[in-house]
Amino acid sequence: MDADPGLSMRSRYLVDAFAPLLRFFTDSTWASRFGKPGVCDFTIGNPHDMPLKSFVDALQSKITPQDAYWYAYKRNEPEARRIVAASLEASHRLPFEPEDIFLTNGATAALHVVLAATVDPGDEVIFLSPPWFQYETMIMNAGGTPVRVRVDPVTFDPDLKAIEAKINGKTKAVIINSPHNPTGRIYSPQTLEALSCILLDGSKQYGRHIRLISDEAYRRIVFDGRTYFSPVCFYPDSFIVYTYGKALLAPGERIGYIALHPDMSHRMEFRSTIPALQMIQGWSFPNALLQHAIGDLEKISVDITHLQAKRDRLVSELLRMGYATQTPEATFYLLVRSPIPDDEEFVQLLTEYDIFCIPGSLMDLPGYFRMSITASDEMIERALPGFEAAIKRVRLQGAS
Ligand SMILES: Cc1ncc(COP(=O)(O)O)c(C=O)c1O
Repeated sequence: MDADPGLSMRSRYLVDAFAPLLRFFTDSTWASRFGKPGVCDFTIGNPHDMPLKSFVDALQSKITPQDAYWYAYKRNEPEARRIVAASLEASHRLPFEPEDIFLTNGATAALHVVLAATVDPGDEVIFLSPPWFQYETMIMNAGGTPVRVRVDPVTFDPDLKAIEAKINGKTKAVIINSPHNPTGRIYSPQTLEALSCILLDGSKQYGRHIRLISDEAYRRIVFDGRTYFSPVCFYPDSFIVYTYGKALLAPGERIGYIALHPDMSHRMEFRSTIPALQMIQGWSFPNALLQHAIGDLEKISVDITHLQAKRDRLVSELLRMGYATQTPEATFYLLVRSPIPDDEEFVQLLTEYDIFCIPGSLMDLPGYFRMSITASDEMIERALPGFEAAIKRVRLQGAS
């Protein structure tokens, strides 16, 4: 018998942890129906309308080379760094320097690089649950131990006492994602201030710098004229992780960044380590064209008023039908209570009406399902009778 298992132990361990999500992406009814006529796709934050014209124009305006190096290897291009630093200085009111900005091919790469730069084997990284799908396996990939802390089940705010209780001599970082996928919650200044005190106390008590990794993917997708507060403005030992994929609603064009807080400890060491890790970890820079276009990309956004109108249409219709849901403050997502305890079963039932959502169980939120409001208006209108029929059907079954 062949004693060589072939695959690395690490890949087995990671793929095992990722298996339920992978199955959804590759083997589910949704995966087999993706993009087919008649499908009402509320699963992930994908575009279902044509891309923004301003986005296409921005790329077209930079596609013709202006010098021999236009499409040469690109790393953290000085002009792109300057544009991001100036934008962050205006939005976060902190004196970011261009050298604090590291361009990445999306937030996923940015998170991998930040974790690689901060986590040693055995270190613990706290993440809030329900989480964005990949945090847990990303922490494992970096050699760290993921520590899950559930948000308050009613307010969806971070459970600060629970975070405090999890901090110990091994804690290296806390990932905070506000506005939060999937709850749509924006964390308040009071919450962020209190979190900062907990991290400062923990750092002092255990003699280490607990880092805050602020995943700000949805920072520009905010409804009802609300204000966004960056966690980074409350705690100096912080990294910002950002992606343009949400505001541009073009997640297949990969561009984002890491930014170091201007008062972060070991900032100079990170300035030299992060660019090396970006190269080592698979050349995780955005393509040349995206870096050339970043000045325009900074100014472009999906139509928030239209997104908000889709949110409102869905919330009011689902409530009228008898579903329980809340109005998200931000992000692309709507969390809806499954009318039967088994959310996977209900999501499967919806597929009979060609409606596709994500079961809450895939994100540690059993009893719910998640809908992305990036679905087109036409999909929403087409799906409404199906949602109504599905809830009526489970009610009838419950009554019989
Ligand atoms: C909270 C959060 N962080 C990070 C990402 C990853 O972003 P990107 O597609 O730019 O890698 C996503 C994407 O859905 C997300 O929802």
